[in-house]
Amino acid sequence: MSDTQKTADPCVMVIFGATGDLTKRKLFPAIYNLAKDGHMPDKFAIVGVGRQEMLSDEFRDQMIENLKEFAGAEADEKHIQWFCERTYYTGGDFNDDKKLFADLKDMLRDVCEANDIPENYFYYMAIPPDLFANVAQKIVKNGLGKEEGGHWRRFIFEKPFGHDLESAKKLNADLLKVLNENQIYRIDHYLGKETVQNLLVFRFGNSIFEPIWNRNFVDHVQITVAEKLGVEQRGGYYDSAGALRDMIPNHIFQLVTLTAMEPPVSFDPDSVRDEQVKILQAIQPFSPEDALHNAVRGQYGSGKSEAFTPSSKKTSKAVTPTEVPAYRDEEKVSRDSNTETFAALKLSIDNWRWADVPFYVRTGKRMATRNSSIVIWFKKAPFMLFRDTPVERLRSNRIEIHIQPDEGITLHFGAKIPGPIVKMGAVDMDFDYVDHFGKQVTTGYERLLFDCMIGDATLFQRADMVEASWKAVTPILDVWHAIPARDFPNYEAGSWGPKEADDLLERDGRKWKNEEPEVRADNK
Ligand code: BG6
Repeated sequence: MSDTQKTADPCVMVIFGATGDLTKRKLFPAIYNLAKDGHMPDKFAIVGVGRQEMLSDEFRDQMIENLKEFAGAEADEKHIQWFCERTYYTGGDFNDDKKLFADLKDMLRDVCEANDIPENYFYYMAIPPDLFANVAQKIVKNGLGKEEGGHWRRFIFEKPFGHDLESAKKLNADLLKVLNENQIYRIDHYLGKETVQNLLVFRFGNSIFEPIWNRNFVDHVQITVAEKLGVEQRGGYYDSAGALRDMIPNHIFQLVTLTAMEPPVSFDPDSVRDEQVKILQAIQPFSPEDALHNAVRGQYGSGKSEAFTPSSKKTSKAVTPTEVPAYRDEEKVSRDSNTETFAALKLSIDNWRWADVPFYVRTGKRMATRNSSIVIWFKKAPFMLFRDTPVERLRSNRIEIHIQPDEGITLHFGAKIPGPIVKMGAVDMDFDYVDHFGKQVTTGYERLLFDCMIGDATLFQRADMVEASWKAVTPILDVWHAIPARDFPNYEAGSWGPKEADDLLERDGRKWKNEEPEVRADNK
């Protein structure tokens, strides 16, 4: 990861799917924020490509409106003007190579000439995954994909990257027929999150944590990505995907690998990803019995939670809960759907560092609160020195890495409660990103786009990582497909998921750390 290059390489960003939601909510605001913070070169342009026919001027007008809405209060005229001067649009049918791709070629040539930009292009595929390979092939066929004359050509692909091992392999193979692996940037927006990146710094930039970060000291690890909202307007996609596919082989496995990996020999992209992929490959394969025993699925029924409105902010702040529909009553969801909206797994990582240390992971929609965190639970003190403190009152030490909504790290330990008698209470030492560094206006895509423009693929998934991730979850998907759930819906909207997820830990004598108000000195 570079910490020296401050400005992106001169280049053109070509967005396929330029009139879609991702472009207006994330991509434009992210480039805008980069420009505002001085990370964009003047020799830069954006070419939007969409199905709609539209003039560049019309596209700019839309973009201005979108920036005002999604770049927040910070959107100022100067930077909007900067954007307008370098934004273009071309429209047409993605399946018609002749017209659309010939127009694109002419436009790219003209844009580069007019703005004195070297012909470095990066293509952002904000389009349905079944078009990825086709569009990449057409770009290459039209002479716009090959790296030559010292110019680079890079391709960013959004998730989902395949829907199981076989389809991911096929997609990788199709792309690798026309591109080199080092041109392919498979994006996972979790790696754009500040605390997720900080995991590497926390672990490998400090000397005090790494010595205890192993099976000798760690009892188990819990990773939660809980969402308060339901499927919103994405029922069509979600009903064919489900919680496991949507979140686990991508976002959650990124968290698992960064938590569990060995120190890389350097921070160059392949050294980091080599260590990540070893963790994915070390995940103990699920036999059909394991899939029944160590994987839990759930689907939400109706209940009280945050109602969806198009402007719903994803927040943990209390909103007045209202009655919300069951998953099966959501738009574009089948009335007898068997799709899971919750998944929890007990993973074993078969290596020397983590043998016998379970990694419990869970994710779900319509949960009690919005909370993503990694909790490292340490083993208890070996004997009870403080005889007046009942053993069940003493908690394990833990390090909690809060990813959202509030980013930070908490160390949880025991302290003496003031007074003449020795009694222990549980206390927290907190590091909060906003308190220390102030509030950053960010979409989470800034770092990832910047890295692509400087050619740093550390935070992007390699083909072998994607395949190893699918390989780990495919046996569970197979069993769930073969044996449809009989008890759906099995958790109430606004709860912590199905009872079986609690049982998964309870039978090991453990309990999920649910984000609830903590009692700091609880044995008074
Ligand atoms: C997406 C999933 O990749 O991640 C969504 O498709 C999910 O279903 C989203 O809501 C969660 O992202 P975040 O950044 O809000 O945690």
